[in-house]
Amino acid sequence: MKVCVLGAAGGIGQPLSLLLKLQLPAGSELSLYDVAPFTPGVAVDLSHIPTDVSVSGFVGDDVEAAMQDADIVVIPAGVPRKPGMTRDDLFNVNAGIIKKLIAAGANACPDACFAIVTNPVNSTVPIAAETLKAAGVYNKRKLFGVTTLDVIRSNTFVAEIAGKGTSEVNVSVIGGHSGVTILPLLSSVAGVELSQSDIEVLTPRIQEAGTEVVEAKAGAGSATLSMAQAAARFTLSLVAAMNGDTVTECCYVQVGDDSSSFHAQPVVLGRQGVDSIPQLPPLSEYEQKLLDEMRSVLEGNISKGIEFANGE
Ligand code: 2OP
Repeated sequence: MKVCVLGAAGGIGQPLSLLLKLQLPAGSELSLYDVAPFTPGVAVDLSHIPTDVSVSGFVGDDVEAAMQDADIVVIPAGVPRKPGMTRDDLFNVNAGIIKKLIAAGANACPDACFAIVTNPVNSTVPIAAETLKAAGVYNKRKLFGVTTLDVIRSNTFVAEIAGKGTSEVNVSVIGGHSGVTILPLLSSVAGVELSQSDIEVLTPRIQEAGTEVVEAKAGAGSATLSMAQAAARFTLSLVAAMNGDTVTECCYVQVGDDSSSFHAQPVVLGRQGVDSIPQLPPLSEYEQKLLDEMRSVLEGNISKGIEFANGE
């Protein structure tokens, strides 16, 4: 299995690369790319850790060389938020970065699974889809927005409030990865009964948890360590699925025939990426209302990505 990280020298990319070096199956290849000139040094640094995962580093014009024949490309490249910014404020810079990297991926590894961390995920994933379509290599089963951070945050906060161990809690989070589009399904967490008032406190906290980190870092960026853990978990689940296990993860994928129908929800992963997308569990009245209210926001984020990719 060859896994390529684009943006590997950044705040998310470095801890993500470390987690992958430590946890990818023996015999895997880890290929690191970043515009930062010291990226080959990050690769050398990681290569001294005694695991059976080989590491190589690429920089500058070598993005296609980094991705050559990759099975999975994980992309945290881009700029992070500063206090007062929404994820959508990153669109102008990050949209162009994703379009360029995905176009290179369409040449170098058209059959790879692409997992996008770069914000605003609600829009960068449709940009990637349109870019792959223009290159004639789009496969809706192999393109993912990584929303795992919403899941691990939810698990942490619910475990705290319910007095459970974090490994006993598994919250599904649906919708997208920004503000009101993040909808944790707190009414149906197996083994946990939350009161409606707890749900109404926890839901906005989970929706704004990224902003909690941005404000706490006071101008130095957004979540990097927890995002690295989330992206590593998603990548390792995808690796396990591509090696034959059946794994379910919440992620942001094309859910219908129409390539503007992106939605985060539990997805069964298999050898070819998305294996199947189960029906959503029954929603409480409160969750259904939030889902109805977010639709126009999510649709707007998706259209913005599609229009950018097609230069409209
Ligand atoms: C977050 O949710 C960075 O989008 C990321 O914190």
